[in-house]
Amino acid sequence: MRRTSKRKHIYLIGFSGSGKSTVGKRLAVRRECRFVDTDKEIADRFDATVSSIFAEFGEPRFRCEETAVLNRVAGLASPVVVAVGGGGFERAANRRMMRESGIVVYLKCSIRELYRRLRDIDDRPLIRAGESRLAAMKRMLAQRRPRYEEADITVSVTSGTLQTVVDRITKRLTEYERKNRS
Ligand code: S3P
Repeated sequence: MRRTSKRKHIYLIGFSGSGKSTVGKRLAVRRECRFVDTDKEIADRFDATVSSIFAEFGEPRFRCEETAVLNRVAGLASPVVVAVGGGGFERAANRRMMRESGIVVYLKCSIRELYRRLRDIDDRPLIRAGESRLAAMKRMLAQRRPRYEEADITVSVTSGTLQTVVDRITKRLTEYERKNRS
């Protein structure tokens, strides 16, 4: 794999339900590049769902696979837009890879709206069992927020259509790329 200019990829980070995959697909079309979803890469590799990988192999194994996917993506020669699973920005090594190879965009969404989007969905292994779902989501978001906020760009996605969210991100990326051009 050849490394060309540094920081060419776009990494979308944020909590489950913030729209990383939906927004990422549309953003990749807009930027005329490939789209990669870390969860989908891992699921395809195991030919299983994320929930069943958690159940069968445990979270530590999933996290290793996640790091391996990010490592492969970081080394790609052509730019890609990447939807990073909600816990993918937790490991310091992952954060370093993303920062060195791309621009990190945090899709920030209110807990109320995240809960509205996720309350009836049952395929997120970390936010379904035990305590109430809302309490679990609040706790996880509070733990992760400081890292999410280390992103290069934060874009609010609590409201707006897909089109307006992609427009917002594109505008902020253009400004960021202009400012940081070497
Ligand atoms: C996770 C989020 C999920 C998936 C896995 C773990 C997390 O991705 O990677 O269930 O730790 O928050 P999404 O953010 O796409 O839901």
